[in-house]
Amino acid sequence: MINEKMVQQLNEQLNREFFSAYFYLSMQAYLSTLNLDGFANYFRVQVQEERDHALAFFNYIHKIGGKVQLSSINQPQNDFTSPLEVFDLALKHEQFVTQSIYSLMDTAQEVRDHTTEIFLQWFITEQAEEEENMSRILNKLKLIKADGAGLFMIDNELAQRVYVPAAIPGQTPA
Ligand code: FEO
Repeated sequence: MINEKMVQQLNEQLNREFFSAYFYLSMQAYLSTLNLDGFANYFRVQVQEERDHALAFFNYIHKIGGKVQLSSINQPQNDFTSPLEVFDLALKHEQFVTQSIYSLMDTAQEVRDHTTEIFLQWFITEQAEEEENMSRILNKLKLIKADGAGLFMIDNELAQRVYVPAAIPGQTPA
């Protein structure tokens, strides 16, 4: 039996994941204008991952017999002042997403929807990793301040990031 409150929250999360992709696409664009190709690559991969997250919610709602409700995606911030500001905002955004996933998990537990709990567990692990990665890069940026050589080194590191399709449990391609 589908719980409507659960389906509504899953749809809200679907929207949040698409917004995340949009927000990071905006960051990618800004970083490309600075010719920081490694930084831009980092967010290019992040955009792909967020799109996968959104489609995982899309597929899951279908799978449980719920109705997918697509809604407007908010306009993301388009102007930034530095890579440090970008990572500060990205980390804060991931912390917000983590809280929203927790809220979905609270509902799943409240309505005893154990299937959704299992689905959400993957996202809880993923959020911890995303926060950790962004926090690590943010701390490096704080350490180097505006040092050009340091920025160049981080840019090289971020150029190594490769997109790997997410192995989200129970998913079939959209
Ligand atoms: Fe899909 Fe980065 O949260």
